[in-house]
Amino acid sequence: MSRYHEVYRSWQQDPERFWAEAAAEIDWYSPWDRVFDAEAGVYGRWFPGATCNTCFNAVDRHVEGGRKDQPALVYDSPISGRKKSFTYGELKDEVTALAAVLKDFGVGRGDRVVIYMPMVPEAVFAMLACARIGAVHSVVFGGFAARELAARIDDAAPRAIISASCGLEPGRIVPYKPLLDEAIRLSSAKPENCLILQREEQGCDLVQGRDHDYARMVQAARAAGLAVPCEPVLATDPLYILYTSGTTGRPKGVVRDNGGHMVRLKWSMFNEFGIEPGETFWAASDVGWVVGHSYIVYAPLLHGCTTVLFEGKPVGTPDAGVFWRVIAEHGVAALFTAPTAFRAIRTADPDAEMMAGHDLSRFRTLFLAGERADPDTVKWAEKTLGVPVIDHWWQTETGAPISQDPVGLGMLPVKYGSPGVPMPGYDVQVLDDAGHPVPAGTLGNVVVKLPLPPGALPTLWNDDRRFREAYLSEFPGYYKTADAGMLDEDGYLFIMARTDDIINVAGHRLSTGGMEEVVAEHPAVAECAVIGIADQLKGQVPCGFVVLHGRAGADMSTVERELVAMVRERIGPVAAFKKVVPVKRLPKTRSGKILRATMQKIADHQEWAMPATIDDPAILDEISEALDKSGK
Ligand code: COA
Ligand code: AMP
Repeated sequence: MSRYHEVYRSWQQDPERFWAEAAAEIDWYSPWDRVFDAEAGVYGRWFPGATCNTCFNAVDRHVEGGRKDQPALVYDSPISGRKKSFTYGELKDEVTALAAVLKDFGVGRGDRVVIYMPMVPEAVFAMLACARIGAVHSVVFGGFAARELAARIDDAAPRAIISASCGLEPGRIVPYKPLLDEAIRLSSAKPENCLILQREEQGCDLVQGRDHDYARMVQAARAAGLAVPCEPVLATDPLYILYTSGTTGRPKGVVRDNGGHMVRLKWSMFNEFGIEPGETFWAASDVGWVVGHSYIVYAPLLHGCTTVLFEGKPVGTPDAGVFWRVIAEHGVAALFTAPTAFRAIRTADPDAEMMAGHDLSRFRTLFLAGERADPDTVKWAEKTLGVPVIDHWWQTETGAPISQDPVGLGMLPVKYGSPGVPMPGYDVQVLDDAGHPVPAGTLGNVVVKLPLPPGALPTLWNDDRRFREAYLSEFPGYYKTADAGMLDEDGYLFIMARTDDIINVAGHRLSTGGMEEVVAEHPAVAECAVIGIADQLKGQVPCGFVVLHGRAGADMSTVERELVAMVRERIGPVAAFKKVVPVKRLPKTRSGKILRATMQKIADHQEWAMPATIDDPAILDEISEALDKSGK
């Protein structure tokens, strides 16, 4: 029998008592004035007045509490052929030495540090070193290009940047340093110091006076024996800013606080993921995404687990058996990844022949999130692995699952296509466009009744107004998730699509609006619309419809090549923008709004209805023809 309903009810009856009990699992320097202050911040703040330190709870307290010699971080990099393990004691040494270097740079409590790193242990050390001294980290995913990095540097105004000479992608080395230099050139906020990890595969030049060699600086700090204690910060102080795609090219700086975040993540490890301290947890994501922040770094370490940092891909590094090898070799109890990864493995090895010879006996559960988990993939994974496969739904903004089948509380009956039931803290409702609740089983806007629980974003960095406008104003009293979906009569959620222009490409969240801004800059393009179209592997991929200037006389294949290159260069390879369809005109409403949703249905061969407000219905036929002609 699952305890879910009983636990959810206990949260509903007294949320403050519920979270105060959960907070007892965290070490605080001083207690909160009250559990929740509804008057503080935009919609209230959790644990105001309390002081704590996230690095202490993730590292030091385990060293003091008997886990000094337990592996904390296992780095497994099939792409470089390297493996290395760090105990909690070693992790503390690495983090402390790096914290000393940052302090030496003058970085202190509240200062921002941008981290632009590949999946190497130093990225984790960097996050924890910031947490240790009360600095606010902002990790930028390595697949973003210089301009995206520059936008984040401008907004966060970091005192220092930690980066590396290069990243490794299958078959190519990605030099990070030129991207970093270009981003700093483009941004108006200039960091005083950059700490650069020189990787063996390819080094880089350092700018005199600004850049410092990571290994040398850390070595010097260690030799000096500098002890850097954990700095007490307020529970409500920011731990990090993580930029995520918004509806324009300008990313939103999601703020995470220290106290509520620790409470929520620690609670999730057993209750939701069914993991005990000491076990090995593997989130095959990237530290540049929220999944990496929460479930590669903070949650497993707060819980005293061993976490796996994997630098590779589910296929091609070297093959589709690498996930099974990592699970077996490190005794992984639970894996968390995006459905795309399993689609890729299944395509390469449909009968999972590469599982042979790997001992998966300690593996108990597979968790999927980041995009809709199609039932076909879920069933294949269940059959192949012989363990429960749990789809769960969340967002960068929430930092932890909004809904799932909570393994630790006891599993509920599985409904394929549903990412489970709302977790404590989340009163999820479905409203129509006018803000009225819809009956069970009816599609609508998925919203969360305020306040949001501990761990969810209190606001956007330096932008309460945008936070209100983007999330709170459309449905007063609720947080708008911008997902469309429904709740069934048993309280299970179904998440169907975004209500804004965000698309999900291989579990990566991207703004088509941001891509349109880039495409529109091409001199031959008069008008454009970028939409997400269905893709068997990546879930969705972007597709740009472009109207060329009549007089331009541009050769379409040249324009197409240039557009693909522009998006890659401005946003980054992760955008996977590779499809361009030339059209004579774009379908619009009489008031001039482009009918993107209808175009998407046509492209995906779904049923569609003629929008009543369409200006010229003939254009939709032109869109179908253009798609057929371009073979997309
Ligand atoms: N630095 C530089 N470039 C990067 C990068 C990084 N950190 N991460 C990705 N890229 C590049 C890739 O090399 C690729 O470039 P290409 O167009 O030259 O091939 C592009 O960005 C797209 O990357 P990716 O989405 O990884 O696609 P892929 O085709 O290389 O691999 C999968 C396909 C399915 C193997 C891959 O998408 C995957 O592992 N998905 C799992 C999803 C996941 O981890 N999601 C995180 C949220 S939980
Ligand atoms: P991100 O902020 O990158 O985590 O992306 C969040 C978005 O991804 C959500 O708003 C959803 O649109 C989508 N998403 C995440 N998990 C799921 C899931 N399990 N099912 C359906 N959509 C999901």
